[in-house]
Amino acid sequence: MTDISMQYLGMKLNGPIVVASTPLSESIDNVRQMEDAGASAIVLTSLFEEQLALESRALDEDLSRGTNSYAESLDFLPELSDYRMTHEGYLAHLWRARQAVSIPVIASLNGATTGGWVRFAREMEQAGANAIELNTFALATNRSETSAELELQLIELVDIVSKAVKIPVAVKLSQSFTSLPHLCARLEDVGVRGVVLFNRFYQPDFDIEALEVRPTLHFSTPSELLPRLHWAAILYGQLKGDIAITGGVHSAEDVLKGIMAGGSVAMMVSALHIHGIQHIGRVLADLRYWLEKREYTSLAETRGCLSRRSVPDTSPYDRGNYIKTLSSYSLRQTLAAF
Ligand SMILES: Cc1cc2nc3c(=O)[nH]c(=O)nc-3n(C[C@H](O)[C@H](O)[C@H](O)COP(=O)(O)O)c2cc1C
Repeated sequence: MTDISMQYLGMKLNGPIVVASTPLSESIDNVRQMEDAGASAIVLTSLFEEQLALESRALDEDLSRGTNSYAESLDFLPELSDYRMTHEGYLAHLWRARQAVSIPVIASLNGATTGGWVRFAREMEQAGANAIELNTFALATNRSETSAELELQLIELVDIVSKAVKIPVAVKLSQSFTSLPHLCARLEDVGVRGVVLFNRFYQPDFDIEALEVRPTLHFSTPSELLPRLHWAAILYGQLKGDIAITGGVHSAEDVLKGIMAGGSVAMMVSALHIHGIQHIGRVLADLRYWLEKREYTSLAETRGCLSRRSVPDTSPYDRGNYIKTLSSYSLRQTLAAF
């Protein structure tokens, strides 16, 4: 039987499919089903910096009830009830998830600034998290803020979190960085053990009748995998730590592409929302079949085989790809398609 185990964040995982952060794992029943279906680790939903800030302000407000001094400062944050779990609820759920399954459970923290809330990482560790994924979301909306400042903010945040805990820390990154290899190298310098490519931003849409800006959430399609493959292939061999692929992983082919680009694991969410948790089992069966048919003895041996450093011609990853792709489309071909 082909060995499909992979190493991720210093842990030996029994396969390449990790369930990325999703509300599906807020039910212990689902967490068990994920393990039974063959998930090799589970990332819990994120606990948000704003949620912790709000809880501590609500507590302050309770203590100074009658003064109403915090009412205005609370306006810019969502209602506490809009968040799925309080931080105590999160820790209790994390602990229960750890008891329910034998695969690693990774806690997730979402924030963009340094602050007292990062100490919460230590509580996650105490509650039994096998690792922490820092889901970062920093958006440049101010013309006076430079990209270097934003990167520095991120590195400082990661530095504090990774110093606060002994368990491995991974960082889920957004795609919008100019020099990703340099940023990842700096993150490794402050102790990061893996990068997760990429966070999916949920761009707001416009309702032109109501003149409103509305949040949207669409499940992914496999086409979203391509930028992840591209960047993983560029990063592989330049980093000491691991690369996880999240975004557009729906099938065994997608998992294989992610590993061949240089990923240690492929994470799934949308496919599980669409097809159900059992989908993991089907994908693993297809994956084994594919590997066995081609007489691979392990999945790990395919890792990075299509990365930039492994292929004889790197032009598909570089500027050459842009020129080649565009010039391969002639006007005649385009017209023939109609
Ligand atoms: C309903 C939903 C909730 C999510 N919540 C989180 C979250 O709390 N933290 C996080 O890091 N990512 C969250 N994500 C992003 C997923 O973890 C994942 O990275 C993303 O959906 C891309 O993977 P996919 O193409 O398999 O869906 C969420 C995604 C969905 C669809």
